[in-house]
Amino acid sequence: MPINLVLIGPPGVGKGTQAGLLTERLGLVHLASGDVFRGEIAAGTDLGRVASGYIERGELVPDDVTIGMMESRFTTLEAMTSGFVLDGFPRTVAQAVALDARLEALGTVVARVVSLEAPDDVVVARLSGRRTCLNCGAVFHIETMPPKQEGVCDDCGSKLVTRTDDKEETIRQRLAVFHTQTQPVLDYYAETGKLFRVDGRGTIEEVYRTAIGGLRV
Ligand code: AP5
Ligand code: MG
Repeated sequence: MPINLVLIGPPGVGKGTQAGLLTERLGLVHLASGDVFRGEIAAGTDLGRVASGYIERGELVPDDVTIGMMESRFTTLEAMTSGFVLDGFPRTVAQAVALDARLEALGTVVARVVSLEAPDDVVVARLSGRRTCLNCGAVFHIETMPPKQEGVCDDCGSKLVTRTDDKEETIRQRLAVFHTQTQPVLDYYAETGKLFRVDGRGTIEEVYRTAIGGLRV
């Protein structure tokens, strides 16, 4: 059975960073709903146009749109055979129920749900210094993980930018949405016994080691 993981946590806690390590070291396929939306916006698609207003305001894109978009991603053979790490999805109970149904139809299940946890002031500091590659989505931090050359992606050489939803006011809104709409997803998974809570305040490697400890089933 492939290892199918879900990473849940507030904005800026390090979901994308940890998903990158899990992908690199365990050979999992990284499926990040936020990255998919940003790709659609960059490509100027109808889906991107629908999603952009919600993202700019720090609100969730409606469930029907998000579920439809993510369901189509589970059909790739690579994701189904290697296992995947979901980053940013599900973030409502309706999305979690839809995910379970979709995976059941495909003959697989979520193996573990890793909850990355850190107080609001820690994640705000992380997001304020984040720089993201416009081209490949690689993530840096001006203090804790600076690129070799300022403003330039180490991986592909493209320009690094501050995400448009990383303004202080929007960060606060995203945090509020996490606490009200995504926290119940943790309760949903706690009932299944699959939830593993990880202190996200350590270094990137410390957090990775703790998270990996929870994968030994
Ligand atoms: P999404 O892209 O998923 O954003 P998010 O959940 O707000 O999370 P971030 O990507 O901002 O943070 P992260 O946890 O990945 O942290 P990172 O690793 O980058 O969603 C964006 C929007 O899309 C949503 O607001 C919504 O509108 C929409 N959307 C997406 N999915 C949706 C869904 N399912 N339903 C509805 N709408 C949806 O790290 C942050 C920074 O910290 C980086 O600079 C990094 O270098 C640094 N860092 C990471 N770990 C550490 C560490 N241990 N120590 C020090 N620094 C660290
Ligand atoms: Mg992310």
